[in-house]
Amino acid sequence: MNTSEEKHAIVTGGSRGIGRAIVTRLLKDGYRVWYLSRTIAEQAEDLASIAEQSQQSVTWIACDIADRTSLEQAMKVAMEQAGWIDLLVNNAGITRDALIMRMKDEAWNHVLQVNLSAAFLTCRALSRHMVQRRQGCIINISSVVGLIGNPGQTNYAASKAGLIGFSKSLARELASRAVRVNVVAPGFIETSMTEALGEPAKTQLQNQIPLGRIGSAYEVADAVAYLASPAASYITGQVLAVDGGMTM
Ligand code: NAI
Repeated sequence: MNTSEEKHAIVTGGSRGIGRAIVTRLLKDGYRVWYLSRTIAEQAEDLASIAEQSQQSVTWIACDIADRTSLEQAMKVAMEQAGWIDLLVNNAGITRDALIMRMKDEAWNHVLQVNLSAAFLTCRALSRHMVQRRQGCIINISSVVGLIGNPGQTNYAASKAGLIGFSKSLARELASRAVRVNVVAPGFIETSMTEALGEPAKTQLQNQIPLGRIGSAYEVADAVAYLASPAASYITGQVLAVDGGMTM
């Protein structure tokens, strides 16, 4: 049964960082959420209690999105359990940094697989469903690095810029069926991905950010919640940078 109040979302990589913040926000916004990651979420019991408070549910599906069979199987399981999907958020992403002269094929391929090809597979798996329902929303998490580049991240930048071109093309393909596709491009956000940077590097980064601080995962989740909401019903094919003004 599809009641107008009940909303279903799939989030890739919801176990920590930005993905976990997105899962939390969607639960509070009244979604039932299925998240796909290799390990269960940090403080999974907190997510379960947020789900309970919001009278929603949160379900972890173990999945390595770099493995095509694992991803296709997880999408199938999520679809079977959910019955229908209103929102897909492709959030899972990795970095394998190296200057191009030292970059191994494996680091190039792995980053492209997780950050770009997995989004292709999830979108392909859900497009027919969303088109048939004549509703749906896809949000892909890119990065400012996909807009402006970064030394040592040719693989990551290619994957994140690729995600933008992919999303704009998909937005054009699906728009006539009322399915919206948008991109959120975070700047520097406090998560395990940026934790590895030492304090001097963080201070240097902060100095390049007009708002003068690193962002929080919840600020990215706010942008996702907005793009998923009826308030963004006339927005498709856009890239929303959540970066403290870095790329203005
Ligand atoms: P994170 O490293 O804290 O979390 C990454 C998430 O992706 C985790 O849930 C992890 O389990 C999942 N994941 C990674 N590889 C996977 C695989 N093979 N199979 C299944 N799940 C997998 O990263 P963070 O910072 O939360 O990043 C989330 C997204 O935001 C990524 O796409 C990242 O590129 C993007 N981003 C992050 C920025 C930051 O400053 N933290 C800046 C710009 C973009």
